[in-house]
This record gives sequence, C-alpha cells and structure tokens, in this order.
Amino acid sequence: MTIGVAVRKVVRLGQPVLRAPARALSPEEIVSPAVQRLVAEMAVTMAEYEGVGIAANQVGEGVRLFLMGLAPGARRHPPGIELSVVFNPVVKFLTEETALDFEGCLSVPGLRGQVARRVRLELSGLDAKGEPFTRVCEGFPARVVQHELDHLDGKVYLDRMTDLATLGYTSRV
Ligand code: NI
Repeated sequence: MTIGVAVRKVVRLGQPVLRAPARALSPEEIVSPAVQRLVAEMAVTMAEYEGVGIAANQVGEGVRLFLMGLAPGARRHPPGIELSVVFNPVVKFLTEETALDFEGCLSVPGLRGQVARRVRLELSGLDAKGEPFTRVCEGFPARVVQHELDHLDGKVYLDRMTDLATLGYTSRV
C-alpha cells in the first residue's frame, strides 16, 4: 500500500454529489496517479467502514467508479466477493427474475430496507488498469453491482424500495 493512502470520509445522504450522475473516465485518466490513489483510498475506506461496495461519489468524487469485495467466510455472506475495481460499468440483465432482500448503505448509516433486484446480470467495464472486462454476476454480487451502479446514476436504494414498511434500523436500540 502506498504511504499516505487515507481513509476517506463517506458522504451521507443529503449531499448533492450523491444525487448527481457521475462522469465516465478515459483509460488514460484511469491509470493516472490521482485516480489510482482514489482507488487505493476507496479500498481502505470500504474496509474501514465494513462495506461490501463503495461508489466514488460516496467519497465525494463524481466519477464512474465503484469497488466491491468481501472476504470469504464473512458473516452473513459466506461465499465472499472477489475484490473488484470497476470503471464505467455497464450492466446487461440476463433474466427478468428478481429477488427481494435487505440492503444497507454507508451513506445512509444505521438503516436497512428490502429492495427487489435482478438475480443475474452481465457486468462490463474497465478494470483498475483501464482494460475492458466482462463477467457474469449472480445473486448477492449481482445485487451489489446494481446498488453501486445506482449510486453512479445519482440514486440510492431508498429510491428502489416498493415497501417502506420494511425500512428499519439495523440495531434495536
Ligand atoms: Ni450504498
């Protein structure tokens, strides 16, 4: 890890950067020191806040970049998610089928609510080196991709909820 990589402060709902569509980055911008540093800072921030995904606008940067990842065997999500860096994500749904499950968000701390998401999709974009990739995501990783892509379009999971009665605090007290 580069010396001086800092944990960033996560922006909370109410800040305009969370509601603005983010802009795409060119491969040249992706390999620039400033953007590589942003990737490193988002990785340590996601770990510090114990998130499974983080979008660049959640640390105040309006660019189309998200990270996702979860150590194997982590509580609640046994299979884990490989750490991924995704620039300029594009999603193609591979099914109409949806599943309902709880989501939370680092920008909406302390709350969770049920959201229906497609269960299978193809994700393409540019990786940390600016190289194109495509892969299929299913189940929980597919949910995380949809949640993070929403962030880059200025949306949060609350916008996707169809039953606000499922919204609640993660802790009882
Ligand atoms: Ni979120």
